[in-house]
Amino acid sequence: MNYKLIVAEALQEQIGDTLSVEAIFNLLEKPKSAEHGDVAFPTFSLAKVFRKAPQQIAADLGVKVTSPMVAKIDVVGPYLNFFLDKSIVSAAVLKDVLTQGEQYGDLAIGAGSQVPIDMSSPNIAKPISMGHLRSTVIGNALANIYAKVGYKPIKINHLGDWGTQFGKLIVAYKLWGNAEAIDAEPIAELLRLYVKFHAVAEEQPELNDDAREWFKKLEDADEEAVSLWKWFREESLKEFNHIYDMLDITFDSFNGEAFYNDKMQEIVDLLEEKHLLTVDNGASIVDLEKYNLNPALIKKSDGATLYITRDLAAALYRKRTYDFAQSLYVVGNEQSNHFKQLKAVLNEMGYAWSEDMHHIPFGLITQGGKKLSTRQGKIVLLEEVLNEAIDLAHQQIEAKNPDLPNKNEVADQVGIGAVVFHDLKNDRLNNFDFVIEEVVRFEGETGPYVQYTRARAMSILRKAGDFKVEPAADYMLNDAYSWEIVKLLQEYPETIQRAYEKREPSVIAKHALHLAQAFNRYYANSKVLVEDAGRPARLALVQTVAIILKEDLRLLGVKAPDQM
Ligand code: ARG
Repeated sequence: MNYKLIVAEALQEQIGDTLSVEAIFNLLEKPKSAEHGDVAFPTFSLAKVFRKAPQQIAADLGVKVTSPMVAKIDVVGPYLNFFLDKSIVSAAVLKDVLTQGEQYGDLAIGAGSQVPIDMSSPNIAKPISMGHLRSTVIGNALANIYAKVGYKPIKINHLGDWGTQFGKLIVAYKLWGNAEAIDAEPIAELLRLYVKFHAVAEEQPELNDDAREWFKKLEDADEEAVSLWKWFREESLKEFNHIYDMLDITFDSFNGEAFYNDKMQEIVDLLEEKHLLTVDNGASIVDLEKYNLNPALIKKSDGATLYITRDLAAALYRKRTYDFAQSLYVVGNEQSNHFKQLKAVLNEMGYAWSEDMHHIPFGLITQGGKKLSTRQGKIVLLEEVLNEAIDLAHQQIEAKNPDLPNKNEVADQVGIGAVVFHDLKNDRLNNFDFVIEEVVRFEGETGPYVQYTRARAMSILRKAGDFKVEPAADYMLNDAYSWEIVKLLQEYPETIQRAYEKREPSVIAKHALHLAQAFNRYYANSKVLVEDAGRPARLALVQTVAIILKEDLRLLGVKAPDQM
C-alpha cells in the first residue's frame, strides 16, 4: 500500500489524460508540517493545459477528487493538501507488514542478475585499517541492499597479495624472522620485519637488490619463494578472518591481485592489438588526455605490471565470469583517479560495459579532526577498537540490566553493532570523527539506541502474554503518535529504493533512527498494554516496529538482540 499512489490515482481520474499517474505521483510533495496534511499537490504545471490560474484549478479539483483513503482535502492557494484517513491507511499498512514480514520492502529491480562488489581488500602482511573497515561494512550493507532489490551480489575481497614488498618480506624473514613468532602474531611480526627491513636498508642499500631478486624468484615461481609467500598470505588471512568473523561478514571470493598473474598478458596483448599502448621512457602507457586524465601506466620499463593492469584483468574476468549488470568498487575517495583511469582505458578498448562499473568512494575516519592512522606512533588495530567497544557495551549492560541471561553474546552484538552503525549512519562521503564513548551509547543517534528500542518492543510483546497477532486483521489506529510510525512503515519500500539508487546505506540507518524515535514517542504517550478495545491494534503496531527495525539493522549488518 502506497498512499501517495492512491492520491495520484484519485487525482488522475479528475485531471484526465494530460498527466499520467506516474507524472502526478512525481509532482506530489511531502508537506513540511503535519498541519498541512500528509500529501500535497501543487497545481502550477496544470495552468498551461487548462488555461486557468493554479488557484482556480486547485479549487475545482478540491471539490471533485475523492478516495476512500482520503479523509479531507484542504485547498490552500494553488495547493491541494490531502489528509489521509488514519484508520483505513493504518489497517492497510499494518496488514502489508504483518503478512509480508521481513520481506516487506523487497523489490524486483535486479531480476536476479549478478553484481560483483569489490570490498574490504586489505593488504597482506599489514594490519587491516579503519579505511578497510569502512570498505568492509559499506560493501556488506550494499550487498544486503542489492539483494533486497533483487540482485545477486558477489562479495569479492580483492586482497593486496602481490608486489615487490614480498621480496622485502622474504629477505627480512630469512635474516631476522622465525616461524613461531609469525604463527603467534602473524601481522604484527610481518609488520615488524617490514619496518626493520626499511630501517636496515637505509644503511645497507644492497638489501634492496636482494629483495628485487627474491621478488623476481617469486614471479618465476621459485619453490621456496612461493611457499614463503603462500605462508605469509595464509597467516595474514587467518587474522583478517578473525575480524570478519567478529563482524559476521563473509565473502564469495578471495581472488586478490595475485589471482591475475596469468591474466595480464592478455590485457597487454589486447591493448597492443588495439594500438592503445605507447612507449614512454621504456614504460608502456595508455594516453588518456582526451579524458583529462594522466596516462595509465601499464608496464614499467623492467616489464613489471602495475595495480591498474591487475584491475583491468580483474574487470574483464568479472565481466566474463558474472556477466554483471553492475560492478561496484567500495574503495576510499583517494583512489578516485585510479577508477576513472580504469574505466577510461576499458572504454578505449571498446568495452561499453565499463559504464556499468561504479566506484563507491567514502570519506576518512578521523580522531579529533585528524586522519586516524597512528596512535602514539602505532597503527590503530581494528581488533582492539572492536574489543574496546565490546567492553563498553558490557559495562552498560552490567549497569542497566545485570540479570540479562546471555550477557556476553549481547555485549558482542551491541559493541560491534555500535561501531558498524556509526560507520553507516552518515553519508558515506563525509569524514567523521571516531570517539568510542560516543559510538557505544544507548541514547542519541546510535546503533545501541536502535537495538535497545527494538528490544523494548520485544519486551512489550512478551509482557502482552496471550496476545497473538492476526496478520489479516484490520488493525485501525487514529492517534497522531501512531500515525508517525504508520507513515514511516508505508514509506519503507521507497526508502529501500532510494538507498539502492544512491548506493547509500545511511538512508537505511536514518530510517531506523526515525522509526526508533517515533516509536519511543508513541510509547511515552500511549498506554499500550491497557486492556481496552484498542489494545490489539496497539500491539500489532509494536510488532510491525519490531519487524522493520530488525530488518533495517539486518540490512546494515547489525544484530538485533531480543533482550538487552
Ligand atoms: N588493496 C587496496 C588498498 O588497500 C585496495 C584494493 C581495492 N580494489 C581494487 N580492485 N583496486 O588500497
